[in-house]
Amino acid sequence: MNQDKQYLLALDQGTTSSRAIVFDRQGKIVADAQRDFEQKFPKPGWVEHDPMEIWTSQAGVATEAIMRAGLSAIQIAGIGITNQRETTILWDRSTGEPLYNAIVWQDRRTSAYCNELKEMGKSEMVREKTGLIIDAYFSATKIKWILDNVAGARDKAASGEVCFGTVDSWLIWKLSNADTHCTDSTNASRTMLYNIHTEQWDQELLELFDIPVNILPEVKSSSEVVGTTAGRILSARIPIAGIAGDQQAALFGQLCMEKGMAKTTYGTGCFLVMNTGYKPVKSNNQLLTTIAWKIDGKLTYALEGSVFIGGAAIQWLRDGIRILNHASESEEMATSLASNEGVYFVPALTGLGAPYWDQDARGAFFGITRGTNSAHFARAALESIAYQVHDVLKAMEKDSGEPTRELKVDGGATANNFLMQFQTDILNCTVKRPLMRETTALGAAYLAGLAVGYWKDIDELMSLGQEADVFKPEMDAAAVERNLQLWHRAIERTRNWAVN
Ligand code: G3P
Repeated sequence: MNQDKQYLLALDQGTTSSRAIVFDRQGKIVADAQRDFEQKFPKPGWVEHDPMEIWTSQAGVATEAIMRAGLSAIQIAGIGITNQRETTILWDRSTGEPLYNAIVWQDRRTSAYCNELKEMGKSEMVREKTGLIIDAYFSATKIKWILDNVAGARDKAASGEVCFGTVDSWLIWKLSNADTHCTDSTNASRTMLYNIHTEQWDQELLELFDIPVNILPEVKSSSEVVGTTAGRILSARIPIAGIAGDQQAALFGQLCMEKGMAKTTYGTGCFLVMNTGYKPVKSNNQLLTTIAWKIDGKLTYALEGSVFIGGAAIQWLRDGIRILNHASESEEMATSLASNEGVYFVPALTGLGAPYWDQDARGAFFGITRGTNSAHFARAALESIAYQVHDVLKAMEKDSGEPTRELKVDGGATANNFLMQFQTDILNCTVKRPLMRETTALGAAYLAGLAVGYWKDIDELMSLGQEADVFKPEMDAAAVERNLQLWHRAIERTRNWAVN
């Protein structure tokens, strides 16, 4: 390996694993490393991670990927960070010790409080300022929960001894050895504290949630050098040059640079995001208005439909009820049946996100008979992912006024060919799956690469090209219709289940 050659390192800190990928100038993967970490479910509806495990797993894979690429750290021209969004960490400013576990985006512990906020008539104000729908999903109520429930946290925060961060901030704090406390516009836009029009932490919201402004990170662009790694961390001072929430990074990695271009990422959840250009578009169909990225001082906005359980449905079949040993077995199980034989699954395991926004919906299987077996469960779970994406895409079409002709997809679950063909059939549009599936990490690398001049501009990124598999619809219209009808009946029956 030529020691003068430079590369980019993307850190992709997801909900279930930490990944690191080294990219070259053609946007090709040189080496990668991945580590899963523990999911904690202390009570029904609660989901936590250990922030130290997030950090050690992420630092571990970063070192491993650089080593596997046969590089020394000085050959890394820049680091791009992309992360599970909304997940909330509070730590002690002087010791770096977390005050509590990370409260994960899927966690529902604050849903009763969110219902109160809605009853207090706060929805419109929150929507207007943040583009978000009041829900336990976002960081604000999670921060408040930690301040209210961890002994001494509020006093400490009042005296300036606490930092809040989404996972990007936490990693940057650790990478820079406590030198830099920042986030970027995309992550800030998911906190429910950030005004996406004025680009400020919003005073009225901070008062509403009783959150002191001094705990918040500085908000930077998605593509700029915000600091460097401390020499002792990766054995070199590497510029930290790109930050974006994982769904926004995937949109960037898929090169959805123009207004109207959209992608869906099938990760733990499924997230459909559409670039809406330089102006925020208000949704009339229960979608979120959010920030796609900020580059060269200019914001690009997006519409987003967030589905909470996507690939996590398969993970639950594997780890929760243990009917699979490996996620990939679900494909063979699903295709062993000619149809779903009337079995449907609503994966409302953490409530329902877009377009339903029902914090109190809970999961259920429908249509089970004596003949039902694990193959039906696997197929119903895969189909449920496709139906949810369908419902979000229809909402997006209503907002944009445009039918979708082509959808770009990425994420782990897109390896499942049954899911991809079924998705194509249900949507009745072309689905394009890039051969290089790591678009989230690639987006983070692109953002960092632009900031350090590794790539000149977006045109250069476009010229790198992306090959893709193309799926075309095959199912007849009546079958699609019938499936959707039964799915929607099933959805209705899970609504409001957890209301006490
Ligand atoms: O909003 C949550 C999202 O960022 C999590 O993404 O890929 O970890 O499921 P993922």
